[in-house]
Amino acid sequence: MKDTSAGDTVENAAGDGIKAWSSGSHLWVRRVMHVTMFLAGLAVLWMFLYNSASPFEFPTSSDYFSAESSKADYDPKLESVLANASMKDKTVIITILNDAWAEPGSMFDLFLESFRLGNETQWLLNHLVAITWDQKTYARCLAMHKHCYQLGTKGGNFTGEVFFMAPNYLQMMWRRTEFLGSVLEMGYNFVFTDTDIMWLRDPFKIFYKDADFQIACDVFNGNSSDLNNFPNGGFKYVRSNNRTIWFYKFWFYSRNVYPGHHEQSVLNNIKMHPLVSRMKLKMRLLSTSYFGGFCQLAEDFNRVSTMHANCCVGLESKVNDLKILLEDWKKYMAMSENEKKHSHPSWSVPQLCRTSFQRAKKKKQITKRRL
Ligand SMILES: *[C@@H]1O[C@H](CO)[C@@H](O)[C@H](O)[C@H]1NC(C)=O
Ligand SMILES: *[C@@H]1O[C@H](CO)[C@@H](O)[C@H](O)[C@H]1NC(C)=O
Ligand SMILES: *[C@@H]1O[C@H](CO)[C@@H](O)[C@H](O)[C@H]1NC(C)=O
Ligand SMILES: *[C@@H]1O[C@H](CO)[C@@H](O)[C@H](O)[C@H]1NC(C)=O
Ligand SMILES: *[C@@H]1O[C@H](CO)[C@@H](O)[C@H](O)[C@H]1NC(C)=O
Repeated sequence: MKDTSAGDTVENAAGDGIKAWSSGSHLWVRRVMHVTMFLAGLAVLWMFLYNSASPFEFPTSSDYFSAESSKADYDPKLESVLANASMKDKTVIITILNDAWAEPGSMFDLFLESFRLGNETQWLLNHLVAITWDQKTYARCLAMHKHCYQLGTKGGNFTGEVFFMAPNYLQMMWRRTEFLGSVLEMGYNFVFTDTDIMWLRDPFKIFYKDADFQIACDVFNGNSSDLNNFPNGGFKYVRSNNRTIWFYKFWFYSRNVYPGHHEQSVLNNIKMHPLVSRMKLKMRLLSTSYFGGFCQLAEDFNRVSTMHANCCVGLESKVNDLKILLEDWKKYMAMSENEKKHSHPSWSVPQLCRTSFQRAKKKKQITKRRL
C-alpha cells in the first residue's frame, strides 16, 4: 500500500511540537505574523498610492471588486453533479480523494462508514461530492458513491506519492483552494472535509448561523472569534456570498505574496489582514470540543461531531487509528441512553499516529518542516 499524505491537510509538521506551539514558539509565530502583516500592509499602501499593480503582486482592488467573475472551473458536468448532490439551500459537502486513499479497505471506506455509524449522519451522504484527480480513482469512486467528479489538475500530477510540502503537494493544495472558490462562485455553500475526518454527528446543528467562513482548528483556545487559534483547512463550512467569493480570490492570489507556502500557512498570514476586516468577512474558529482530532481530542462522546486524523502522517497510521476510533464509537453507540450520559468513555487513540512523525522523518517522507 502506498504511504502518502496526499489529499490531506497535514498542517502539523510540528507534530510532537504541538505543545511548544502554545508556549514559546507561539510568540515567535506571532512576531513573524506581525512583521509579515506590516509588510503586507506596506504593499497595500503602495498599491493604493500608485494605483497600479503591487510590487509583490498583491491583487489590486479591481481584482476583488470586479463584477466579472472568472468562473474558472465552470463545467456543465460539475454544475450537474453539484445540483444533484445539493441540499435545498444549495449546500454540498465536498471531499477530495487521493488515489491511494480510494483503494478498497482504505480511507474512503472508513470515511463513508463513519457517516453510517454516526448519530443521524447517514442522510448527509446524499449531499457528499467526492472529487478525484484521475480517471482510475474516479471509476473507483463511482463504484462506492453516487456523486463523484473528476477535476482538471491544470498540468499537475497528483496521482501516486505526493509528499507533504513537495512541489506537487503545494500545487495540489492551491488547486483545491481555487476549485473551492469557484464552487462559491457557482452559488453553492460547502462544507469541505478531508477524507480522514470521521463524521459522528450532524455538524449543521453546531455551526454558527451568522458566520461566512467557519473553520476547524488543530488547537483551540476557547474563543471562537480569536484569530490566534490555529485553523486547519481540512474542515470548513463556507457560505457563498460576496464576501467569501472575494476572500477566496484574496487567499488564492496571496500565494504569490508567500511563495513556497501552502494554503493553510497563507491563511494564517492573511486572516488578520486589514482588507479582510474591511470586507466584513465573518470568520469563526470551531471548537475542538465538537470538531476534534488527534492534535486535540473532542473528549466528550456526547458532544463530538467530527474527529480528524491530524497531527499524523502516513496512510497506514491514519487508517489504523481511525479504525480503532470507529470501534470506540460503536461501543458508545451501543450503550443505553443512561450509560451514554454517565459512563464518560475516552478514546483509545492516537496510537500509531502519535509516533508517525518520527517514523516518516526516518523514511524522509517529510521534505521540509514548516509550521
Ligand atoms: C443527476 O441526476 C439525474 C437524475 O437522477 C441523472 O439523470 C444525471 O445523470 C445526474 N447527473 C450526474 C452528473 O450525476
Ligand atoms: C442521537 O443523539 C440524540 C441526542 O444526543 C439522542 O437522543 C439519540 O438517541 C441518538 N441516536 C442514536 C441512534 O444514538
Ligand atoms: C503521475 O505520476 C504517477 C506516479 O508518480 C505515474 O504513474 C503516472 O503515470 C503519472 N501520470 C501522468 C499523467 O503523468
Ligand atoms: C475573543 O476574541 C475576540 C477577538 O480577539 C475578543 O474581542 C474577545 O474579547 C475575546 N473574548 C473573550 C471572552 O476573551
Ligand atoms: C454583492 O451581492 C449583491 C447581491 O447579493 C449584488 O447585487 C452586488 O453587485 C454584489 N457586490 C459585489 C461588489 O460583487
